[in-house]
Amino acid sequence: MIHLISSPARSCLGTAILRKQLSRRGSTFSRTSLRSDAVASMPLAEDKPHTHTLLILGKPGGGKGTISGKILADFPSFQLMSTGDELRQHVRNQTAIGVEAMKYMDEGSLVPDNVMIKLVINDAMEAIKTGRSLLLDGFPRTLEQAKVLDQNLNVDLVVNLSIPNETIVGRISDRWIHPASGRVYSYSYKPPKVKGLDDETGELLVQREDDKPESALRRLQMYEDATAPLVNYYEEKGVCQTFRGTMSDVIYPEVKAWLDDQLAEDKVGAYAS
Ligand code: AP5
Ligand code: MG
Repeated sequence: MIHLISSPARSCLGTAILRKQLSRRGSTFSRTSLRSDAVASMPLAEDKPHTHTLLILGKPGGGKGTISGKILADFPSFQLMSTGDELRQHVRNQTAIGVEAMKYMDEGSLVPDNVMIKLVINDAMEAIKTGRSLLLDGFPRTLEQAKVLDQNLNVDLVVNLSIPNETIVGRISDRWIHPASGRVYSYSYKPPKVKGLDDETGELLVQREDDKPESALRRLQMYEDATAPLVNYYEEKGVCQTFRGTMSDVIYPEVKAWLDDQLAEDKVGAYAS
């Protein structure tokens, strides 16, 4: 990330041009620290490694968590934030956020924007400040969340997973989790070694409350109403790539090839051309 410190004396135009250049090159622009002397002193290659903010969009049960795990294994510079996993952790710990969120989650509704924005934005900005790239699974889920994210971070990569509803319904009913760790199993795709038991602890697996049929259908409806418009929102910004299919193992190599391509300039030293 490039840090720039603000100076009213510098030209806004120069800053705007730099912002555009950085944005095109996929780097994160820190709005809180705008350094004008850096604007004047290109090249920028000696600066800190540039970071990316990558989103995974897709229906509930569409493989966001599965694909995120594969991305992390291949692209270790990314740090994962999964809002669903974080919320479930809050629920397990009975925090104030957890108590508030649980009623929405269990019935398959979205947790209110103000709660989610508070939960995510500061941590996301902190993660970016450490020089790591960010992989967001489950945020944003509404236009309101997307706009606040845009005010704080430069979203430069969006993977949209497009999976048919029939596939989703089958998967959700097949998914079992280990509540203490959040480990996810599927009897058809990734079965536990012993039926009904977690591989590492031997403890009982359970079904997520929101994977039960009524909640699962509601989540699909919420996705159509609130989250699907984000695909268009990011397509218009030119940062979104859609991947279609029914099998994460088949879709993932395409995601990896696209990310390799998008991140290629990082490997050759980025800004010094
Ligand atoms: P969240 O946990 O994000 O739920 P979700 O979007 O409904 O997505 P899932 O985690 O259910 O599925 P996934 O896409 O990660 O798929 P997975 O890889 O597991 O959010 C839960 C709730 O929190 C929301 O409903 C909401 O209430 C709240 N919330 C979270 N973020 C919010 C926000 N920003 N705003 C408001 N509220 C928010 O795959 C699914 C299954 O398929 C797994 O069992 C997997 O093993 C299996 N599978 C994967 N690939 C294959 C394959 N090739 N073949 C067969 N099975 C496969
Ligand atoms: Mg998930």
